[in-house]
Amino acid sequence: MKALILSGGKGTRLRPLTFTTAKQLLPVANRPIIHYVLQQILEAGIEDIGIIISPETGGKVREAVEGAFSGRARLTFILQQEPLGLAHAVKTVRGFLGQAPFLMFLGDNLIQGGARQLVSELERGESEAVILLKEVPDPRAFGVAVLDGEGKVVKLIEKPKEPPSNLALVGVYAFTPAIHEAISRIKPSWRGELEITDAIQELIHLGGRVKALKLEGWWLDTGKKDDILEANRIVLDEYAERDLQGEVDRESAIVGRVTVGPGSKIVRSTIRGPAVIGRNVLVEDSFIGPFTAIGDGVVLRGVDIEHSVVLEGCHLENVGPVEDSLIGYRARIKRAGGNRRSALRFFIGDECEVTL
Ligand code: G1P
Repeated sequence: MKALILSGGKGTRLRPLTFTTAKQLLPVANRPIIHYVLQQILEAGIEDIGIIISPETGGKVREAVEGAFSGRARLTFILQQEPLGLAHAVKTVRGFLGQAPFLMFLGDNLIQGGARQLVSELERGESEAVILLKEVPDPRAFGVAVLDGEGKVVKLIEKPKEPPSNLALVGVYAFTPAIHEAISRIKPSWRGELEITDAIQELIHLGGRVKALKLEGWWLDTGKKDDILEANRIVLDEYAERDLQGEVDRESAIVGRVTVGPGSKIVRSTIRGPAVIGRNVLVEDSFIGPFTAIGDGVVLRGVDIEHSVVLEGCHLENVGPVEDSLIGYRARIKRAGGNRRSALRFFIGDECEVTL
């Protein structure tokens, strides 16, 4: 069994952050999203992993993945010149896949419990494809599945205006090589992409057996700001540990599951977990509330912040209360005098400077 991670895409809904980085590299609890994906693939017992990259962000993805995983997995990077759809991506890597069955994972999807169940279902040999479905309140932005009374997949539609069910296709799939024939038969959709949803529908049409598993746990499709904050909240809630490696002075209080990375200094401040503070961070006269991730090299002075993600190299001074905010790399936010008033909400891009 092989695995395929799709890490192309333009990430338009996460601009301006994605002007300078791939959405799969944005950190959740201070680790790039794609690291969780790789972790889950390894946990499903697969070590031969192809990663599809784009010309714009491929180099950065490669760097972020190789350092952390090359000792543990066989990684093959494959360039997809243009984002022409998920099924097109599978076509592009035909040489890598050969006749192997494979697990396909969209590099910005995170699921509770991982992909093991999907893999073992395919290995039972009773289906040509296994898909994962999740009930969602509004499935219009996803592929949507219709099941018959016995739970068999009868129909799949990509981003329907009027969804025939509330079952969205999660971006994690397991395929036998039968999918290639189906892909060769489909045409681009209205958005000009070869859709994997259409290919699975074609597989059913060709008589292939498609098994659907329902995901009861959480699913995060980290394509938007609020999804990143939600992913951060869930991952911190589940995995945060108390690990204080930096310096904490006597006037500070660290409450609950808080990680403080090496080289960081906490001075006259309170941090309430679950929260994670990276390396070489300076926190002075500040309050950091639950569900907050502070990236490496950040400086916070007189800041009150919670439920937020602050990326590497930011400087924040005399601001707060800040909540539900995602602050891009090396941004600088400073209140030049005046009182702290009502909550401020930010979604600003890399290298911005805000003086309030
Ligand atoms: C893609 C798939 C869609 C699926 C979604 C999951 O959508 O086309 O069927 O539900 O991923 O994240 P896209 O991210 O290309 O809009």
